[in-house]
Amino acid sequence: MSQDRLFPATIMPDQNWWHVLWPDPDGVVRALRIEPGMTVVDVGCGDGYFTAAIARQIGMGHIIGFDLDPVMLKQAKATCEGMKNCDFLLGDAMELGHLISSPANYILMANTFHGAPDKTALAQEVAAALKPDGCFAIINWHPLPRQETTVLGQPRGPRTELRMSQEQTRSVVEPAGFELKALVELPPYHYGAIFRKTARHESPGK
Ligand SMILES: C[S@@+](CC[C@H](N)C(=O)[O-])C[C@H]1O[C@@H](n2cnc3c(N)ncnc32)[C@H](O)[C@@H]1O
Repeated sequence: MSQDRLFPATIMPDQNWWHVLWPDPDGVVRALRIEPGMTVVDVGCGDGYFTAAIARQIGMGHIIGFDLDPVMLKQAKATCEGMKNCDFLLGDAMELGHLISSPANYILMANTFHGAPDKTALAQEVAAALKPDGCFAIINWHPLPRQETTVLGQPRGPRTELRMSQEQTRSVVEPAGFELKALVELPPYHYGAIFRKTARHESPGK
């Protein structure tokens, strides 16, 4: 699997400040309306911090942690050790539609979407991996200047110019066959945009 397919500016942050910024991953998962029994894919799962929270929330459901970086996937497996409802898949998000064998109820992309060079094509891949009426949630940094988004006294997160407003996110996701279902605030610096797949979705390549 070629590492040059990694999206720019999506390296997994250090846990020391990441866990300070996100002290309650289970609360984030509930705010995003991930429900017990769902089948979920966590695309760009990194070290599995949110994957494990999803696994705790869905109970008898099923979660796949998906990442292009085998080192991250190994860490995610360790984070979720002992959880029976987790699987892991190595792959490029730009091929998601082919790699997910059984369509999901819900696909999460946290702190990764901003780096994708072709965001509408990525959203099309997500749509192809979702059931009809499935949901796609994106966690993005608000488009604040980087020097203002400090954690433990340091500016954090992607470069200012890579950050996307809610409107920018809608404008690239909806053409792939989604409509906005809800926007949720994830303080202090993030929002979640939850989209629902619409009937007018067409598979990539058609
Ligand atoms: C900033 S980390 C976010 C991890 C996790 N979602 C979180 O919020 O804690 C982004 C992750 O996306 C992965 N990634 C980047 N490009 C990717 C691609 N083309 N396909 C799949 N995963 C990718 C990286 O390897 C990294 O683990």
